[in-house]
Amino acid sequence: MFVLPELPYAANSLEPVISARTLGFHNGKHHKTYVETLNTLLAEADDRLSSLEEVIRETADDPDRRKLFNNAAQSWNHAFFWDAMTPAFKPPSGDLAKAIHTAFGDLTALRTAFVEEGVGHFASGWVWLVAEGETLKVISTHDADDTVPLDGVTPLLVCDLWEHAYYLDHQNDRKGFLQAWFDTLANWSLAERQLTAARGAGPAWAYPAATKA
Ligand code: FE2
Repeated sequence: MFVLPELPYAANSLEPVISARTLGFHNGKHHKTYVETLNTLLAEADDRLSSLEEVIRETADDPDRRKLFNNAAQSWNHAFFWDAMTPAFKPPSGDLAKAIHTAFGDLTALRTAFVEEGVGHFASGWVWLVAEGETLKVISTHDADDTVPLDGVTPLLVCDLWEHAYYLDHQNDRKGFLQAWFDTLANWSLAERQLTAARGAGPAWAYPAATKA
């Protein structure tokens, strides 16, 4: 079975952008339910896959296993999202800063692209900064869809666009949430490690392997 990973920081440490109340519901209710449903569905199917990435890839294009895919992908997306934030914000540096400069011009232009993609995304989903080939891109995915099944794409950062991520703290101001998120919570250290992995020089972020039930 797959575990619900522990948050890498205290529940109140992302305030004021994300309150302890929001994080409590988001992690302790939404994410927990995705992981529990995932484990139930895998047990029912007698599925022994130990890697969540494998579960996602195997079910991504199978309409008969959509429920399993949705819960697997949402489990993955949320765990990556928790790690894509930090209370100890530091702007990008080194090779990552160079890659941002090459792809977007500067960090402000990347911020504009990221916020615009998130604001323009209709309904629920995720906005990502990804490495693809030699370049960086901003993309969005709908509902539970994620980057795991996309060949040659490595996610560097993600922000949750579902209303449960921001409504208690920002109501309908998705733009304000995304701007504050980008300016104060984005974990550029994770992004740097992911870029290194995308270039073949280290392991990419992975969900904790399944444990024996
Ligand atoms: Fe969420």
